Amino acid sequence: MKKVLLVLLFLPIFSCVGGDDSGQDLGNIFESSEGLILTEEDHPDGWKREDCLICHPLSVIHQEDRTELGILPLEDIQEFVLQEGPESCVICHGDNGVGE
Ligand code: HEC
Ligand code: HEC
Repeated sequence: MKKVLLVLLFLPIFSCVGGDDSGQDLGNIFESSEGLILTEEDHPDGWKREDCLICHPLSVIHQEDRTELGILPLEDIQEFVLQEGPESCVICHGDNGVGE
């Protein structure tokens, strides 16, 4: 039941991605237990998946600094990810349980 609720909670985000200039809003992800590194706990709906871009298209991620500190080098991150492609995600977000 909890899973179903979570999916419902995030559906609106993914269905209106095109019209939202500030991109995907998953809150300040540094507040989760391992920070940027994904854990099963903070990534229940995408855990053990490698096809990140299906759910997180490049055009909607890394668009806004949600740490409220304003210190994230978002442009550098966007450029880096664009150059390195889907293989780059693990560098900052961990292996998403894929190696387990
Ligand atoms: C099936 C869709 C799906 C796939 C595939 C997916 N994700 Fe996610 N991701 C989500 C959803 C939904 C959330 C919001 C949290 C949740 O419900 O799991 C999320 C949250 C996140 C977050 C924020 C986590 C936090 O701490 O709040 C990051 C970072 C992320 N995903 C990165 C990735 C990376 C990197 C990959 C590939 C290795 C990936 N995702 C694959 C659906 C997906
Ligand atoms: C150079 C490090 C770095 C790389 C590489 C990277 N990310 Fe991120 N990612 C971040 C940071 C930092 C944040 C936190 C952004 C914020 O709080 O505004 C973030 C946030 C996210 C989020 C949460 C939503 C958002 O936009 O804030 C998702 C989803 C995500 N990344 C997916 C990915 C995927 C998919 C890849 C691979 C294509 C990837 N990231 C590669 C550093 C990186």
